[in-house]
Amino acid sequence: MAFPTHRPRRLRRTAALRALVRETSVAPSDLVFPLFVSEAIDAPRPISTMPGISQITVREVAAEARALRDLGIGSTILFGIPKQKDDRGTAAYDPNGPVPRAVAAIKDAVPELVVITDVCVDEYTSHGHCGILRKMRGSNELEVDNDATLEVLAKAAVAHARAGADIVAPSDMMDGRVGAIRTMLDGEGLEDVAILSYAVKYASAFYGPFREAAECAPQFGDRAGYQMDPGNSREALVEARLDLEEGADMLMVKPALPYLDVLQRIRQAFDVPIGAYNVSGEYAMIKAAAAANMIDEQRAVRELLTSIRRAGADFILTYHAKDAARSL
Ligand code: PBG
Repeated sequence: MAFPTHRPRRLRRTAALRALVRETSVAPSDLVFPLFVSEAIDAPRPISTMPGISQITVREVAAEARALRDLGIGSTILFGIPKQKDDRGTAAYDPNGPVPRAVAAIKDAVPELVVITDVCVDEYTSHGHCGILRKMRGSNELEVDNDATLEVLAKAAVAHARAGADIVAPSDMMDGRVGAIRTMLDGEGLEDVAILSYAVKYASAFYGPFREAAECAPQFGDRAGYQMDPGNSREALVEARLDLEEGADMLMVKPALPYLDVLQRIRQAFDVPIGAYNVSGEYAMIKAAAAANMIDEQRAVRELLTSIRRAGADFILTYHAKDAARSL
């Protein structure tokens, strides 16, 4: 019989002891709740693939912001669905578009809520891709034109920033977009607006439900030509380094759960704040399993949020935020 002098179980005996030695915690203020603000509807519309989540109109935004504040949630990220789309995503930088109007409504109702805006054109393009299209060299297929897209992204960021956004978050994965956005923001006197780069964003099957929520499913092909390949993790460091050099203030890894190893590498390599996006498909899996009585939803959500924090995220974008805040 062995009697080790160190017995970890001594510190697991009571809930108070366990709380005392817990290394990782999750607080409501670590959570960011996404809002889908649509101009194409007159009343909130539930998203069938994301139970509990709805598209809302600008009218509901202030009440949502107050609800988040009352739950202790520190921040929201806004996605917009415009009335009209075109092939160049021009509605993305309309100063009267859904996102600028929602930002203004939040800053009016709850000025202290940190407002992040998603900067991308896929919700605004008729073809659903995250950029402007051109014919691929040596082929008849279409592809996203990297450099032609940068100006639209930067203009969108300026429109969001002018409306009062604290942080703009480009999610398109074009090369050079952080630099283009930083340059245009600074040129407009918006140097206090921070950039949260979706630096490490994989071409993932787990975005499925979001594409219903944001009405942005690509009408042909997929996003593998601009989002990262799931097999790559060294490349995540390259992406993150470039974005920091271009002026990103914070980094994001997305999705979260299938990429905790990547999140941990990014945490070890960089000292800026890091977020992780617990995406729509991750949410839908939990909701489906809970609805089928296969798991305890509250416990499962607490555990997965803890694991994302343990891997190195300072904050988590998650559709579970409101439910989790109630149970934390
Ligand atoms: C692109 C964008 C997407 C998500 C956030 N920003 C979709 C995509 O890249 O296809 C996905 C978020 C989620 O699945 O919850 N604007």
